[in-house]
Amino acid sequence: MTDEQLLELARAAAAKAYAPYSNFHVGCAIQSVEGEVVTGANMENACYRLGLCAEQSALTAAQHKFGLEQIAQIAVVGGADSTVCTPCGGCRQAIPEAAQLSGRDVEILCGSGDGSAVERHSIGELIPFGFGPANLEGRS
Ligand code: THU
Repeated sequence: MTDEQLLELARAAAAKAYAPYSNFHVGCAIQSVEGEVVTGANMENACYRLGLCAEQSALTAAQHKFGLEQIAQIAVVGGADSTVCTPCGGCRQAIPEAAQLSGRDVEILCGSGDGSAVERHSIGELIPFGFGPANLEGRS
């Protein structure tokens, strides 16, 4: 699947977000090394702090469909204007879990809600010096 197609799936997922409190709709599409794709969107809650980000929701689906270690590329799209939506700090912490399992510096395509702008980053760029599974190796 092309970058544009993956972004388009993320955009379609954003349209299915449940975000009545922020009214900020985010969609995420994750592609495996074999070209399989899963999607997710943010899901908010009346108890605000329990809301789930699009990336976390898609990562759960990815684990169930093909396994975190198969993740090749992640597209995130959010909002309604030309500002690109980059993963929040919590999602930047969640994505390396997959990246470290596979040893791949997963690519993140960040798109704006209006489709006019895209930025490409690797997860290593987005969370340098991150804490991940490797930090827990060798614990007693
Ligand atoms: N949101 C995401 O789903 N992913 C991000 O990386 C940024 C923020 C959601 C959380 C909340 O439902 C809404 O966007 C506003 O913060």
